[in-house]
Amino acid sequence: MLLEAINISKQYGNEVVLKDVSLGIEQGSSLVITGPSGSGKSTLLSILGLLLQPTAGEVLFKGRDVSGFSDDERSRLRNSSFGFVFQSPQLIGSLSVLDNVLVPAQLARKRSLETKAATILKDLGLKNRLDYLPYQLSIGQKRRVAVARALLLDPMVIFADEPTNDLDPERAAWIGEFLFELPRQERALVLVTHDTRLAGKADRAVQIVDSRVLDLPVGALKTG
Ligand SMILES: Nc1ncnc2c1ncn2[C@@H]1O[C@H](COP(=O)(O)OP(=O)(O)O)[C@@H](O)[C@H]1O
Ligand SMILES: [Mg+2]
Repeated sequence: MLLEAINISKQYGNEVVLKDVSLGIEQGSSLVITGPSGSGKSTLLSILGLLLQPTAGEVLFKGRDVSGFSDDERSRLRNSSFGFVFQSPQLIGSLSVLDNVLVPAQLARKRSLETKAATILKDLGLKNRLDYLPYQLSIGQKRRVAVARALLLDPMVIFADEPTNDLDPERAAWIGEFLFELPRQERALVLVTHDTRLAGKADRAVQIVDSRVLDLPVGALKTG
């Protein structure tokens, strides 16, 4: 197992959001997390992505317990192995599309990734937008820039939190297709979405119900 949560619980004050959740993801596979608004999807994604500490339980990466890692060690692991696409694209307004995609390279002190960044942007249909500033882009284009940024350093796991929210069905489907290509390139995908068509493409889909995860029948979603 590439990434594994074992008996995770999360409480905010007295509010129990996750209770004894165990969930794993294999290298190059896809996991979809669904559930009603406020059910704990983003919380679970953040715990798996080492952005948030659980109240109890362990997270293993490549079999190693990373729960006890310091903040520095966790952020190094995130930068080297994970990519994140949040609901809000969080682009830097003063930087061009290309420079926004290059931010992770700067943080990792890696040079000469301009050509690679431009290639990823081209794959995402943004070839003619490299010099644009974020305010000149549609919400769908901004999300695609965020996807490109998440992919720049070849992460082993991509975490995407409702990346197709507020997009028209055609653009939502396009981003969905793109994300589900990633497992074929040996990258794992953890996707939070309400979109049942996207859930049907996953190797595994779970729903958070009453603070626990239930498996969804992916086969039924595929046909339905
Ligand atoms: N930082 C926080 N402090 C307190 N409560 C929080 C915090 N983050 C999330 N919650 C609560 O935890 C629950 C789950 O939130 P979240 O994981 O964002 O749900 P979802 O992504 O499924 O909409 C919600 O009731 C939310 O209000
Ligand atoms: Mg959420």
